[in-house]
Amino acid sequence: MTQKHRIAVISGDGIGPEVVAEALRVVSACGIELETTSFDLGAARYLRDGMVLDDATLGELRTFDAILLGAIGPALGDSRIPGGTLERGLLLRLRFELDLYINFRPFRGVPGSLAEACEFAIVRENTEGPYAGEGGVLRKGTSHEVATQGSVNTRMGVERCVRFAFERASRLSVPRLTLVHKTNVLTFAGDLWQRVVNEVASEYPTVAVDYNHVDAACIYLVDSPSRYGIIVTDNLFGDILSDLAGAVSGGIGFAASANLNPSRSGPSLFEPVHGAAHDITGQGRANPLAAISSAALMLEHLGENEAALKVHAAVADCAEAIAGLSTTEITDALLQRM
Ligand code: IPM
Ligand code: MN
Repeated sequence: MTQKHRIAVISGDGIGPEVVAEALRVVSACGIELETTSFDLGAARYLRDGMVLDDATLGELRTFDAILLGAIGPALGDSRIPGGTLERGLLLRLRFELDLYINFRPFRGVPGSLAEACEFAIVRENTEGPYAGEGGVLRKGTSHEVATQGSVNTRMGVERCVRFAFERASRLSVPRLTLVHKTNVLTFAGDLWQRVVNEVASEYPTVAVDYNHVDAACIYLVDSPSRYGIIVTDNLFGDILSDLAGAVSGGIGFAASANLNPSRSGPSLFEPVHGAAHDITGQGRANPLAAISSAALMLEHLGENEAALKVHAAVADCAEAIAGLSTTEITDALLQRM
């Protein structure tokens, strides 16, 4: 007997609705029944009535089994929405309020990419670091203006992220974990991360542990990505490295992500790494594979492992054969392989 999962769908802006529709088409082709509820949130909604994410909507979102999100954001150069309004008010608010403390971003290099045949994942801390909002501004607009933006790293936050990363690393066929940081400069935060990694490592004797400075990791991701299994890192380094990892793996059009609350005190959120891409909206040119892979991560989280594996395999299978195909044709090609 199949159980209906209750999913909140935030299709969002630009290509968001196009790729989410394809992701839902794939899920239903797996025979998984979803009870979906759409939430009209994002740039278009904000421009219409000024709502970003009110408490009532947030409360409603909390009651779902998972959240599937397409993309959020205005068109480039649209100055009607002050920078940070949607990022802080919607996406980061969801990450913080729902305690989505892991941003899990798996990569598999498509044929022809720099990371061809490589498989690795970034485990990005998702609630702290420079994203936490610590800091402020003094004497704004004067020549003596001061702006600070601190990086918040709590023992609890670092440890739960590192533990999640080790758990994942221990399940790999070659169990290995690399801490990426800048411990030689960010000595306070770096020391905390390194000590936590060292401590947790003693509980996972099968996992080979390494450390890279973040600048060196940028080189390695380009010229020897096969060295990585699980990369664990802080919020900002993880943000930057996952765009680079997406680029070397075949393009950001393939990159999926799971914003996880592993304690399951609320729903987790699944979204492609890419943005709203207004420049190609409505042309059938968006690659839906990142959204489809994100939906597969959602299925995994919902315990639908068989379907998740099937979708992941089909994505890997058709990734090299999508050139020239439209958004819906890519999904068709994928469904044929399932
Ligand atoms: C991402 C995005 C977000 C981030 C932005 C939109 C706030 O770049 O999910 O990687 O910085 O985390
Ligand atoms: Mn990013």
